[in-house]
Formats: sequence, C-alpha cells, structure tokens
Amino acid sequence: MGIMMMILGLLVIIVCICSALLRWNQMRYSKKGLPPGTMGWPIFGETTEFLKQGPDFMKNQRLRYGSFFKSHILGCPTIVSMDAELNRYILMNESKGLVAGYPQSMLDILGTCNIAAVHGPSHRLMRGSLLSLISPAMMKDHLLPKIDDFMRNYLCGWDDLETVDIQEKTKHMAFLSSLLQIAETLKKPEVEEYRTEFFKLVVGTLSVPIDLPGTNYRSGVQARNNIDRLLTELMQERRESGETFTDMLGYLMKKEDNRYLLTDKEIRDQVVTILYSGYETVSTTSMMALKYLHDHPEALEELRREHLAIRERKRPDEPLTLDDIKSMKFTRAVIFETSRLATIVNGVLRKTTHDLELNGKKLFSFSLSNLRNIIIISFLKKIIFKEKK
Ligand code: HEM
Repeated sequence: MGIMMMILGLLVIIVCICSALLRWNQMRYSKKGLPPGTMGWPIFGETTEFLKQGPDFMKNQRLRYGSFFKSHILGCPTIVSMDAELNRYILMNESKGLVAGYPQSMLDILGTCNIAAVHGPSHRLMRGSLLSLISPAMMKDHLLPKIDDFMRNYLCGWDDLETVDIQEKTKHMAFLSSLLQIAETLKKPEVEEYRTEFFKLVVGTLSVPIDLPGTNYRSGVQARNNIDRLLTELMQERRESGETFTDMLGYLMKKEDNRYLLTDKEIRDQVVTILYSGYETVSTTSMMALKYLHDHPEALEELRREHLAIRERKRPDEPLTLDDIKSMKFTRAVIFETSRLATIVNGVLRKTTHDLELNGKKLFSFSLSNLRNIIIISFLKKIIFKEKK
C-alpha cells in the first residue's frame, strides 16, 4: 500500500512538473501580436509530433488555429504559414528580410558553405558552380549518356523478382545514380560506406540539435565527418594520380577553364548538397510516378508507346539523346502531373533578418525579437487518388 502511494505521489509530481514546463514554454512565446498556436516542451518543442505525424501535424494545427500559427520545431520557434497569398508574398520578398533559413541541425550537418547557408556573392558562387554541372553541354555529353547507362544496368534483372519494393528501389536508385554522377570511379564497398553514412546524415538533419551521445544529431554530425574523410581521401588520390576525371567531382576539382574555383571545403559541401537535394525529391517523384502509372493503365500504355517508338529507331544498346528526351511529350506530362498531384516538397523555410510586420495588408503584426524566427511555408496540397474501378 505504502509503495502504491509513493508511485502515485511520484506520478502526480511528474504530471505537475510536465504541465508547469508546458505552461512556462507557452508563456515565453505569448507575446502580443504573435499568431496562435502551441509551443510544446522547452528545447524540444513539438518536434516529435511533427516528425511522427508529418503533414497530418500541420493539418491538425491548421484546423485548430487557422492557416497562420506558431509552433516550435527542430529546435526553433517557428511560424507556419499555409496561406497561399501570404506564401507568395514571403517567397517574393527576400529583399525585405525574408531569407532562406534552414534549421540549425541542417546547417551544421550540410556545412557552412552549403548553398542554403550562404547569401550574396558566396551564394552566387555556389549556385553558379552547381548550375555549371548541369549545363546543356554537360547534359548532352556526360549526364545523359551516363544516366542512361546507369538505368539500363540498374533495371536489368528485375524480371526475375517476384515483388519489387518500389519505395526501397527508388530510394536506392536516387542515391546511387547521384553518387555515381559525382564519382563514377567508386567501387561497391566504397558506395556502401557512403550509403551507410548518408542515411545517418539525413536523419541527423531532421533532429533537434542536441550534441549528446546517442542522439540523432550527434550521429548525423559524425556521419558528415566520415563523409568528409572519404571525400578528402578520394580527392587526394585523384590529385596524386594526375588523371582527368569527367564526373562532377572531376569538374568541381578542375583548375583550368573553371569559372567557379572552390576550396576543398566548398567542394565537399557541394557534393553533400547534390546528394542531399536530389535524394528525397527524386526518389519520391519516381515512386509516385510509378504509383500513378500503375493506377492508370491507359496512361502507362501511352507512355510505353512513346518510348517503344523511340527505341524502334535505335540499335538496342544505343543511348537516348537530348533530342529523344525533348521529343517525349507524354513522358514530360506524366512528370508534371506527378509533381502537381504528389506533395514532393512539403514546405520551404525562411527566416527573418529583423522584426517585421508580415503582410502589407496588416493582417498580422508581430515582433520576432525573442524568436529564432524561422518561417515554414507549407504547401499541403490535397492528393486525390482515383479509386481503381
Ligand atoms: C523532383 C525533384 C525536385 C524537386 C521537387 C525540388 C524542389 C526544390 C524546391 C522547392 C527548392 C526551393 C527551396 C527553397 O526555396 O527553400 C529547391 C531548391 C534547390 N534544389 Fe531542388 N528539387 C528537386 C530536385 C533537385 C535535384 C536533383 C537537385 C540536385 C542535384 C536539387 C538541388 C537543389 C538546390 C541546390 C536548391 C537550392 C537553390 C538555391 O538556393 O539557389 N534539386 N528544390
């Protein structure tokens, strides 16, 4: 009986402490003029609910507080806007102090020279360097033939599989294809090493930035350090070999005819940016395209017709050219329709450089001086899956 009373007493104390913490955190951010919403726990905020429920978290909060509310996510006090008109205003007003602003964990792990972390001339340098890797000439002479070759090898052997886990395959395909575009000389064990570290890195970027043993953040930072070590060794080997390489790393490291000369640290950050930006986006788009095509056999048939007609004009091993890709009108429509229907990117993030009054129509006026002021603009489109008859 005595033990029971003790446990009960302990529970009551824990409940009291928890509600006091929640109330205290809520009070800290209840400045006049801030939008409604909940702030969750000190430090952690509502990160767990946000990561667990994904878009449903945003939808539920919108139901309770409207399209413009506050929260505390990934270690940052956050204002969420799901209002189309306001989102347009925010996206078009970088000069008014609404600049790209990603959570601390992402900035720490993706690197200080990462395109999302730099502004002004540095942003232009990193952007120009990335764009030069996908110029029309690079597309025609390198990317296209290499991706064509990669996809043929990747898809061969699928006929024997009884079940294909499309989510798993598209993730693997997106990672592998971009890693091999970056460094085509990597062997299978090295690819696996990058893959293991990369997945830890991704999880780390979506965590609260608490650097303690066992946290996803610590593991993400360590993974990033390991990727840096692998890249440093690779770059050193390449320099010592004196060979010329025609993959992305080769172009980033090139000193002659290169308008965008980068330091080794900048090169490593570019490589991680390419891997990170192209992973979730490309894998989700491919997966959803396959799902929609599966649900609409008539569209799949049309797509096959377009591809087989191009194939008929070629030898079996002849790669696709840029003109072939340009001629794929229906395929392009499928890609656009997939991007329209599926929510590939759930939201983008901006931070304010100073206190501001949001929305010229004075709908919202709030001071952000005590906040680390990240704004998530969430485009939660409604996905309509047509039922198969
Ligand atoms: C279906 C595929 C993709 C979608 C839907 C997509 C979507 C987006 C969106 C919405 C942004 C704007 C983010 C912001 O303003 O905060 C963005 C930026 C960016 N994306 Fe993608 N992306 C895709 C594929 C890729 C790939 C394959 C790469 C790299 C190889 C890439 C690299 C980047 C970079 C570097 C930026 C930042 C640009 C800048 O700050 O100037 N994306 N993407």
